[in-house]
Parts: sequence; structure tokens; C-alpha cells
Amino acid sequence: MARLSARQIALGALRTWRRERRFADSVISRSFAKTDLTKSDRAFALELFYGVLRNLTLLDFWIGCVRASRIDVDLRDILRLGLYQLFFLETAQHAAVFETVALAPKKQRGAINGLLRAAGRRREELLSRGNAQPLFVRTSHPQFLVTRWQQHFGDKNAEALCKWNNLPPPVYGRINRLKIDPENFVQLYPSSRVLAGNPDFVEFDDLSTKALDSGHSYIQDPSTVLACQFLDPKPGEKILDACAAPGGKTGYIAEVMQDHGTIMACDRDLERLETLKHNVTRLGAGIIHPVGHDWTRDRLPKEIAFVAPFDRILVDAPCSNTGVMRRRVDVRWRLTQADFKRMQTRQLEIVRAALPLLKANGVLVYSTCSLEPEENEHVVRRILAEISSLRLEAERYSLPFRDGFDGAYAAKLVQSA
Ligand SMILES: C[S@@+](CC[C@H](N)C(=O)[O-])C[C@H]1O[C@@H](n2cnc3c(N)ncnc32)[C@H](O)[C@@H]1O
Repeated sequence: MARLSARQIALGALRTWRRERRFADSVISRSFAKTDLTKSDRAFALELFYGVLRNLTLLDFWIGCVRASRIDVDLRDILRLGLYQLFFLETAQHAAVFETVALAPKKQRGAINGLLRAAGRRREELLSRGNAQPLFVRTSHPQFLVTRWQQHFGDKNAEALCKWNNLPPPVYGRINRLKIDPENFVQLYPSSRVLAGNPDFVEFDDLSTKALDSGHSYIQDPSTVLACQFLDPKPGEKILDACAAPGGKTGYIAEVMQDHGTIMACDRDLERLETLKHNVTRLGAGIIHPVGHDWTRDRLPKEIAFVAPFDRILVDAPCSNTGVMRRRVDVRWRLTQADFKRMQTRQLEIVRAALPLLKANGVLVYSTCSLEPEENEHVVRRILAEISSLRLEAERYSLPFRDGFDGAYAAKLVQSA
């Protein structure tokens, strides 16, 4: 195992993320797998890596203020790390500068040292110039995204959303009533607090791996219940979870059904489906049958045809993830304007393929963790226009700036007899 400091790990991860364009979570977890960091160093490396990714535009704005000429991308990453420590973590200046300079190749240490010291001296001025920048710079989001949110939600809510995306998310867990009830749960895990108004969920102050390993809890945001509540599954029914992996909602549906009935859990991603199998085994849910299936390509697998028609179908569709950007930190840097329509095409294909498997009087719930109308109500309106036997019974958004949880959307469609 390599012996690297938290700062070295964070810098290596930033470079890999920039060069390879892989997901940030996968980049940092692979870096951790190759090293041997203490728990607190690991937390510091995560703070640095995600903190820089959350604040890229603002950090680059400050770099532009202290250095007029072009800067090499590798040095820019080092400066980003240094400025993040100076301006966000408020690390003592001498430590932030000394440790960050040590990350640079010898020849460039003088330049990095000079730039970071200059930034430290001009701290108040730079902070106030940052605060005077437009929202997309101040909160480091792509300009097109901020503009569309301002149009959809108004200036005040768009600002609240951008700020929300930059906060480290709390860790929420669902209490798995198949294995434990809430009263025993909080006694067993005193670092957890049941959420007011949502007794199925706790917030962990200090995540207990025992709570996860034992299947007593599943890490999940409370916004995910919206789709499951609309689905309203009953014990003994036949359920199709069309896009199920890694199984967060599948496990919850099995719990609501008291593990009685049948859930066919499909996904096209076989690796994620393996994770689902582990997750639902841990949760003690025996009615879930995982099936590898791509709704846009494959013929219907025999196992699904054999169980169909279904009482209820959940299509928790792949989406742009704009509702969960505080958890998926680099999503904002991957998105383009064209993605919302591109996702819509895929979402429609999946719903169209799953719908014929619904019983008369059956319920189909369509859900995403996107805040974009193209992926939500526009998909549902298209489906309603195509299929006259369907009616919309309910639809709802979970909005971070209104509801205090991740962003999500769900619509409940009912098939007439
Ligand atoms: C939002 S995630 C599902 C999350 C899951 N319902 C949960 O609660 O844990 C969407 C899933 O759809 C799957 N997916 C994307 N396109 C698909 C397709 N054409 N057919 C089947 N699954 C697909 C992805 O692999 C991904 O696991």
C-alpha cells in the first residue's frame, strides 16, 4: 500500500477526474483502495476533493485575480486545493501554504508559494469580489443550468438550490422494519435520530457500519419515499420494479409488502444488479427476483413474461440527477443542455416497453431524481397523450429549497379496466 498524505490523494484524484472524466465517487474510492489512510485523513481527503469540485468556478475566478497569465492545468489543481483550504476550510495560512507548496514539483514551488501568500494577504478583497459575482460564479454551477432554474423556480429559489448543492449532505438511513422496529433501532444506534414527520428514517451523526451490515438500515434520502408512497404496494401483489438497481426502492417496497408477494427487479446494468442482490439479502427481503434486462433493446425475459401482468409497476428512470447534485458532486460538470431531451427519449422508451405489462386497474409510478420538466411532466404528458386508457392520479416534486430533502419527481398513473 502506498503511503500518501490526504492532500496528495486529493490532488491525484482531481487530476484523474480531470483527465479521465470518470465519476468522482469512483475516482476517489479507487484512490482510497490503493492507500492506507486513517479515518480522519480519509475524511480530510474527501473534504478537499469534493470541496474543490463543488467550488471550481469560484476557485478559478480567484486564481484569475492573483495570476493574470495562463497557468498549467496541473499547477491550477494545486492552487485550487490551496485556495480551498485558505478560503473555505480556514486552515491556518502557514500550514495551508506550506503543505500545498510541497505538492508541487521543486521548480514550481516558488511560484505556488508566491501566489498562495498573495491570495492570503488579499483574503478579504478576494472574498468580497467573489460575493459580487453572478450566481453561477459565486456558487460554481454551469451558467445554462442556473439560467433555466431561475426561469423555472424564480431567482430566490434558484439561489437557494445552488447553495444547497454546495452543502455536504447529511447521512440519512431508512429503518428496515423487516428486521427491527424504530424504538429498538434508536436504542441500538444512539448516534441516529428519527426524523420528525418521517418515523421510517433516521439521520446518522456518526454512520454505524453495524447498522448497515446487519440490514437494520439502508442509506437512503427521505425524498425516495415519494415514489413508493404513490406506488402503494400491498402484501401479496405482483410488482415490477423496472429500473431497480442498486435496490433502494426495491427494499422499501418489499418492507411495505411485509415481504409477502413478488417483486421482479430489473436493471440493464449487471454490476449494479449484483449490488442489488447483496443489498436485498442484507435487508432480509426474500420476495425480490433480480433480472438483467434492457427495456430499450432486449426481448422480454421469460421470468418476467411468466409473472406478468403486474398489479403495480415502478419506473424509477435513469435521469440527469439534477435533484441530487449535493450528493453527486460532479454531475454539474458533466451535463449539457442537450442531455434533458436525450434522457427524455430514453425515459419514454422504457415506460412504453414496461406499460403493456400492467394489469387493468393497475398503477404505474414514474419517478426520477431530476428537477427538469423535460424528464418529468413532459414524459408523463407524452405517455398520457399516447395511451388513452391511462389517467394521471397524482404528481409531485420534492424540492430541496421547499421540502429540505433531495430533489425528486413522481407521477401516479392508473390504467382503466
Ligand atoms: C435511478 S436508477 C434506479 C435507482 C433504484 N430504483 C433505487 O432506488 O436504488 C436508474 C437505473 O436504471 C437503469 N437503466 C438505465 N437504462 C435502462 C434500460 N434501458 N433498461 C433497464 N434499466 C436501465 C440504470 O442501470 C440504473 O440502475
